[in-house]
Amino acid sequence: MNDAPFVDIQGLTVTFTGGRQPVKAVGGVDLQVRRGEVVALIGESGSGKSVTLRSLLKLHPPRKTTIGGRIVVGGHEVLKLAPAALADYRGKVASMIFQEPLLALDPVYSVGAQIAEAIRRHEPATSADAAHKRALGLFERVHIPSPERRLAAFPHEMSGGMRQRAMIALALACKPQLLLADEPTTALDATVQIQILLLLRELQREMGLAVIFVTHDIGAAIEVADRIAVMYAGRIVEEGPARTLIREPRHPYTLALLGSRAHGALAKGERLETIGGAPPDLANLPAGCAFAERCRFVTEACSAAAPQVVTLQPGHQARCIHTGATLGAAGR
Ligand SMILES: Nc1ncnc2c1ncn2[C@@H]1O[C@H](COP(=O)(O)OP(=O)(O)O)[C@@H](O)[C@H]1O
Ligand SMILES: [Mg+2]
Repeated sequence: MNDAPFVDIQGLTVTFTGGRQPVKAVGGVDLQVRRGEVVALIGESGSGKSVTLRSLLKLHPPRKTTIGGRIVVGGHEVLKLAPAALADYRGKVASMIFQEPLLALDPVYSVGAQIAEAIRRHEPATSADAAHKRALGLFERVHIPSPERRLAAFPHEMSGGMRQRAMIALALACKPQLLLADEPTTALDATVQIQILLLLRELQREMGLAVIFVTHDIGAAIEVADRIAVMYAGRIVEEGPARTLIREPRHPYTLALLGSRAHGALAKGERLETIGGAPPDLANLPAGCAFAERCRFVTEACSAAAPQVVTLQPGHQARCIHTGATLGAAGR
């Protein structure tokens, strides 16, 4: 696979300027995702995962946000798209499924009508009948039982898991090639979560989608993702093949996140550890490593300058000057 990545994020910075002080939510993210690849973003709350995902759809309020860097998705310069091109790009090239489908679905229309409407908005030449047939096909594809009957249902008439499937169908309505999922399963119970994640994996395989999803569930990340990127204070601090990253974490933050879990024992639904201390204030980031204050490997050099990316093996990188020291500790 030496084709260009489908998603190429270079030096992404996102600063919110609406408050008293600018908040540097994303401070320089580089990430590449190929067609057919599934990447999980993990990290504590507030680390910039959602802001990074939303950048891929250029969803930030334009007047209160300063965005830098470059995002190319399937040849589209996302951050430069004008409104009409952006409306076309959303849904057709990239689309997003959210944690709470009730907020994404319109309560006053049947789910089938919403899917048909989305199809006809992007493809005005499609007849109502053809759009309905496509919606039916999508419901079948996401394994909604009695799809014809359920197309007529309103969002509140569906169970949480069914609603999530309906939202995935809606997200797929215009045949996007990139699917973004922001904690798609957090609101669901454990067995439904696994079913939804396996569905995402199946759709990725069948449709060759690139998928980027945010999760707090390490078991899910391993089960579903090819690669994992760990975010801290607006940057990716470690990235690598899912299994390598979990078995041999080399950034002290990843190590701390994975915590005291028995080595190798990974249960589905397993949550990330909570770590002592708090993440830094994004309005007043330190000059050096943002994790230094909470890090058990910290030395004076850590606060002198922001650490550069270290390549540990091809495809496995960490942003730390002490990746050597973490080697032994990784065995836990
Ligand atoms: N529209 C916004 N205006 C101001 N600050 C925001 C906005 N959206 C997100 N933030 C801030 O950016 C930081 C990163 O948020 P987010 O990406 O949502 O974190 P998470 O990793 O939990 O998804 C947080 O400090 C959050 O408060
Ligand atoms: Mg979030």
